[in-house]
Amino acid sequence: MARRPIIAGNWKMNMGLEEANDFITMMVPLCEDSYAECVFCPPYIDIIRALEITSNSGIEIGAQNMHWEDAGAFTGEIAGKMLKDLGVTFVIIGHSERREHFAETDETVNKKTKKALEIGLTPIVCCGETLEQREAGDAKNVVVGQIEKDLADIDDVTKVVVAYEPIWAIGTGKTATNAQADEACGWVRETIAKMYGQDAADAVRIQYGGSVKPDNIVELMQEPNIDGALVGGASLTKDFEKIVNYDKY
Ligand code: PGA
Repeated sequence: MARRPIIAGNWKMNMGLEEANDFITMMVPLCEDSYAECVFCPPYIDIIRALEITSNSGIEIGAQNMHWEDAGAFTGEIAGKMLKDLGVTFVIIGHSERREHFAETDETVNKKTKKALEIGLTPIVCCGETLEQREAGDAKNVVVGQIEKDLADIDDVTKVVVAYEPIWAIGTGKTATNAQADEACGWVRETIAKMYGQDAADAVRIQYGGSVKPDNIVELMQEPNIDGALVGGASLTKDFEKIVNYDKY
């Protein structure tokens, strides 16, 4: 089954409103005709402006997190439904930085993923092992365990995007080799196949993330299990256009 590639930029806690405005305005004409689906995930405060600038461009806007309840006493949180009502279409869930610094667990990732799907947001569910886990030969167990919990009891798994991001490759300049990245994305697909059947697994798009740059994206995209990238640092610069349009360079 043909899976449309998907390249998403995770800005993390970078770019206030004016900077975001200028950057997205510059990027829209460069990215709007991409073969790959192109998603910008700016901080919450930039989202309304980002949606205005990208309207009718085919470029999608995602959030970096959401709460699973629609409303309530959750100081400092943003509901998935609030994002959906604005016109947001994607949401990153369970990024390793949220797991590490903000007590995100497989249980909360699962709740958020189910809620996102229920309200019509496409979740980009993140998984990936630490360096210690990889060196101990535990990478596969960790990734399989995360997917089993994060994607448990989902109605239509084909609507989920998974991002495999080895933690040791995030922001370090150290990319997984193409073979390592493809192998781990294969573990994700295999696990989904066991949970939901091969056809469903074949329809799920799996991204690689971790120091993706213009000079490694082309090779990564040739791997059979890799359908795109979740890009951090390089999504804050013009380099992102070269990654999104990897098929044209
Ligand atoms: P990086 O970040 O591209 O800067 O390594 C990837 C991510 O955290 O999603």
